[in-house]
Amino acid sequence: MSRFLDNQVKKLSRAARVILVGAPGVGKGTQTERLMKRFPQLSAISSGDLLRDNVRNRTPLGIRAEAKMKSGDLVPDMMILRLILNELDKRGWVKRGPVVPYTLNYAAEDAAIEQAADEASILPTLPTESFHYSDAPSASFILDGFPRNAAQAAQIDKIVPINLVVNISTPTEIILDRICNRWVHAPSGRVYNTTFNAPKVPGKDDVTGEPLTRRPDDEPEVWKARLAKHEESSLSLLEHYDKKGVLWTVRGNSSNEISPKLYAEFERRFSEE
Ligand SMILES: *[C@@H]1O[C@H](CO)[C@@H](O)[C@H](O)[C@H]1NC(C)=O
Ligand SMILES: *[C@@H]1O[C@H](CO)[C@@H](O)[C@H](O)[C@H]1NC(C)=O
Ligand SMILES: *[C@@H]1O[C@H](CO)[C@@H](O)[C@H](O)[C@H]1NC(C)=O
Repeated sequence: MSRFLDNQVKKLSRAARVILVGAPGVGKGTQTERLMKRFPQLSAISSGDLLRDNVRNRTPLGIRAEAKMKSGDLVPDMMILRLILNELDKRGWVKRGPVVPYTLNYAAEDAAIEQAADEASILPTLPTESFHYSDAPSASFILDGFPRNAAQAAQIDKIVPINLVVNISTPTEIILDRICNRWVHAPSGRVYNTTFNAPKVPGKDDVTGEPLTRRPDDEPEVWKARLAKHEESSLSLLEHYDKKGVLWTVRGNSSNEISPKLYAEFERRFSEE
């Protein structure tokens, strides 16, 4: 693919509502940025960013979410859903039956539902509301941070149907290679990269001959466990979307290998006249 082609900007002809699923180290952030450059109608909606913005702006939802976090609790799924729903509503991409902003009334209603769900140990659900979503190409987004499992995905489905879930698949040994090949000479701070900038003698600093060490975070065992956990925790999510017929897996050993495949699939699904 030529450089020129690589920098092309494409128009979408229908709304893309996308989730990227990938192990840590697989370059999800890189692909998101590249997709947004190539398809400027795409927005990135990150549940983490929405949460931080709402806390900072002291919205009713932000205040309640902050209280949860301060008491050491996870922010309940329903609050995250509300954050996303409010954002889509604000952008005019989703309309509720009667349009009601998130008020303290909603907060009270949510609190009651959460408490009941807590007591029954089930996932709280949104109160029954009807939603209409926009299919305009400008209502296109990559949703990040939520949903993480099938139960959460089923809740998002009630608001807007996700129409493409990309499973970014890179062999574990390649990810480990990329991440765990960093060695440091602690006293001097000299960094070696065993693939691209290897020490002359394996495991020894070039200048002093002293042993090199690895940051605890870069230990292959730590990363292997992290990757295995991702595989396990994303299984129900992938299955959910596979059943809906919107799952697509892209394989590649590097971001540069994956991007052109991703562009082609986006164009095939969302850009054709
Ligand atoms: C999704 O990617 C993971 C990680 O590479 C892989 O193990 C799995 O088989 C893929 N799932 C599908 C349905 O292709
Ligand atoms: C090693 O160097 C290559 C090429 O510069 C880079 O892609 C890779 O991320 C580096 N690995 C680490 C762990 O720094
Ligand atoms: C990607 O890595 C796998 C496993 O190391 C290897 O078998 C395959 O040839 C590589 N693919 C490319 C296109 O380099």
